[in-house]
Amino acid sequence: FAFTPANQAWAEAQITKYPEGRQQSAVIPLLWRAQEQEGWLTKPAIEGIADMLGMPYIRVLEVATFYFMFQLQPVGSVAHIQICGTLSCMICGAEDLIAVCREKIAPNPHQLSADGKFSWEEVECLGACANAPMAQIGKDYYEDLSTDNFATLLDNMAAGKVPLPGPQNGRYAAEPL
Ligand code: FES
Repeated sequence: FAFTPANQAWAEAQITKYPEGRQQSAVIPLLWRAQEQEGWLTKPAIEGIADMLGMPYIRVLEVATFYFMFQLQPVGSVAHIQICGTLSCMICGAEDLIAVCREKIAPNPHQLSADGKFSWEEVECLGACANAPMAQIGKDYYEDLSTDNFATLLDNMAAGKVPLPGPQNGRYAAEPL
């Protein structure tokens, strides 16, 4: 694994932000940049970051496996869908959204769709409980989902459109899909 020259310069700049002896504090931003570069966190990427920061591989892996923001296997080329499955979202219909994922993307979490464009997983609370049920897609939150507006949202993404993030029920005058 190697960062691109631009990412390498960025990574080195991050490391210098921390006091001497505390360079390991840069582990999360470096993992995030590696994931943005590669699409997901490969083992060589984790090993490379461990080397850069002078950390044991297992400690970097511990960080990478702790957060849902890090993906340890390939994800859909268009989108990786993260459905919140915690209490508020589960009460308000998360299981129905997961059923849509199973039908439209793939039967199992972390499995790529047949065309490789999508993948999905269930995650813990994403902190948008008031607008349950919701999903994170890329860096955006899509809230107030229903089976209908979620299925439409996925269809639009498959067609190359970028649905407007935020509430999907018009609560805040979001544009209709
Ligand atoms: Fe789903 Fe909190 S329970 S965002």
